[in-house]
Amino acid sequence: MQAEEDERYGPEVTDLIIHYDPDTLERGRVRRDVVVDFFEQSGNGQAARIAGALPVDSAGYYDEQAVDALFVEVHTELQRLHEEFLHGERLLNVLAPLVDGLLESGIEKLRVVDVGCGSGFVVRWLAACAGFDERVELTGCDYNRALIAAANDAARAEKLRCDFVIGNAFRLREPAHVYLSMGVVHHFRGEDLERFFAQQCGPETLAFIHFDIAPTWLAPLGAWLFHVARMRTAIARHDGVLSTLRAHPDDVLLGAARRAAASRGIETALYGLPWRWLPITRIIRPVVGIRGEYKAAWLSRMGARAQLFEEFA
Ligand SMILES: C[S@@+](CC[C@H](N)C(=O)[O-])C[C@H]1O[C@@H](n2cnc3c(N)ncnc32)[C@H](O)[C@@H]1O
Repeated sequence: MQAEEDERYGPEVTDLIIHYDPDTLERGRVRRDVVVDFFEQSGNGQAARIAGALPVDSAGYYDEQAVDALFVEVHTELQRLHEEFLHGERLLNVLAPLVDGLLESGIEKLRVVDVGCGSGFVVRWLAACAGFDERVELTGCDYNRALIAAANDAARAEKLRCDFVIGNAFRLREPAHVYLSMGVVHHFRGEDLERFFAQQCGPETLAFIHFDIAPTWLAPLGAWLFHVARMRTAIARHDGVLSTLRAHPDDVLLGAARRAAASRGIETALYGLPWRWLPITRIIRPVVGIRGEYKAAWLSRMGARAQLFEEFA
């Protein structure tokens, strides 16, 4: 398990007000008093107040439609932050050379899946801006049905070549060649983090790129400023700041990825770590994995940017 000290932080309110059965992905009902009690017992009064203010039905269970609408609202706000922080461009900076390298190595079809895609910003941004041809299939998956419906609606409205499916990150039904995620891995703690990477190191996997918040000294302050300034819902303000405190340290993230990937022929590294004293320009950074035989093709297409990879192993 990750150091217990780290578990001082979390879970987030959005982690507890909704529940899905991991096998069937059926929605379970969640009692408000149980969630409020949990946060009160764990000393997080702000989370208890936020969870306590959400509407319930006559039996005390969260009103599912209200919770769904709140998730869509929060993710719509999150998309605005992603756009302002150029998260699409940051991902494409490493993904485009990878895709080029894989296609030029003779791979005919590439299935790229964004795991925990929320309302699909990353996949929709790539479909609109990356310029990939029809050999690259872009899919987002998330276990939240309301977010997947919102993502599909937006993709249809924008006439984008991508799709979104309901799926559990730990039990994906259809394997991908390249796995992506943005702001998701800090939700997976301890053994779950390793299970998450293990799920993505099957025989079809060629590479993965998982971006998450870099846990720098500036991250909580920056997140507080931006969430207070730009996010309207109390839940987004609370969870946005908490997620920077929960972000995995480099060694925890890389260690989990490496333990899952090394025996499967996939080499792992961190990319673009923030500068220690001035971490403001790199607020997120990815852990990446690449099947050994494709590493040279990727690195050569990265050019000078390849220096930003920490050592692969
Ligand atoms: C912080 S949001 C990030 C959403 C999106 N990647 C973005 O950048 O806007 C985390 C997402 O992970 C999803 N998620 C968490 N655990 C999951 C799991 N086990 N399987 C699938 N999705 C999961 C949540 O439903 C949520 O949409």
